[in-house]
Amino acid sequence: MPATTTPNPAPRLASRLVNGVLAIKPLAKLAKHQARKMMIERAESMGVAWRNIVATLRSQDLESDLAQVENPNLKYPEYYLRPFHAYDRGNLGWEAATEVEVAAYAVHSRIWKKDDPKGDAQLRQSYHDILTTQISTSPKDILDVGCSVGMSTFALQATYPQAKITGLDLSPNFLAIANYNTRQRHPDYAIDWVHAAAESTGFADASFDLVSIFLVYHELPQTAAIEIIKEAKRILRPQGHLAIMDMNPQSEIYAKMPPYILTLLKSTEPYLDEYFALDLQQAIETAGFKHQTLTSNSPRHRTLIAQV
Ligand SMILES: C[S@@+](CC[C@H](N)C(=O)[O-])C[C@H]1O[C@@H](n2cnc3c(N)ncnc32)[C@H](O)[C@@H]1O
Repeated sequence: MPATTTPNPAPRLASRLVNGVLAIKPLAKLAKHQARKMMIERAESMGVAWRNIVATLRSQDLESDLAQVENPNLKYPEYYLRPFHAYDRGNLGWEAATEVEVAAYAVHSRIWKKDDPKGDAQLRQSYHDILTTQISTSPKDILDVGCSVGMSTFALQATYPQAKITGLDLSPNFLAIANYNTRQRHPDYAIDWVHAAAESTGFADASFDLVSIFLVYHELPQTAAIEIIKEAKRILRPQGHLAIMDMNPQSEIYAKMPPYILTLLKSTEPYLDEYFALDLQQAIETAGFKHQTLTSNSPRHRTLIAQV
């Protein structure tokens, strides 16, 4: 059984109301439509040309990138096939894949300042500052788990220019865009894009010096979260490091967040409750990692680093 903390108290009235509204399909659809419209408007008001960027991506021949990266025999875990982030097909399909980068700029624009399109880059930098301070050796082989369209992978490559980097994700559409983005933006990068589940990567034992997992854990049910830690331990070399960056459930922001806002947040993140209830540090320790540190790298994010 995964280690858990005390479950959240029963939802208060506002949350129950929000839950009630979201249970009515046409209302939930309307709420999602409104939330999406607001996000696009926020992005465009900060100078992120959401609709243009998405239209340009959709006009590319992404099917040939897809054919290069997709593993047609992959069996998707059941939990991955649910609607996510207001997309009916979750992280599968072109709709989510073509919007994930612009959405990250919008979502991260309010971490430090209000509506700052550089918030996303600052979040990644805050994580890399911790990696380079706390890991004294330069990792030669790095795995970016849940690499999506390559934002975290490119940022890792910029931090560790000598490293051989592999990006792994369950979404072939995200990986196809990562492949396309490499050609467009970083033709000098030799990143391998691997279509697999993080809990059964297929890599040989002791293949990597660093397994980096950036903003993936809040999307995982507890069983998968624990399996992925075990798999990371297996594929890391002796003295290798596991680094996990994600929302910090202990941060004041979540503690003080009105429950109905949290409920709205959870409506598009099906495993957020499980993530908030998981004692991730305990799970890392139980898997046999040593020298674990927890560092907060933004007002609402934390970085956990541990060593084999
Ligand atoms: C919020 S995105 C984070 C993306 C990226 N690391 C970044 O910084 O932009 C989470 C990613 O994890 C992937 N993912 C979720 N569960 C996974 C699993 N079990 N194995 C591999 N990838 C997974 C999703 O497909 C998605 O691309």
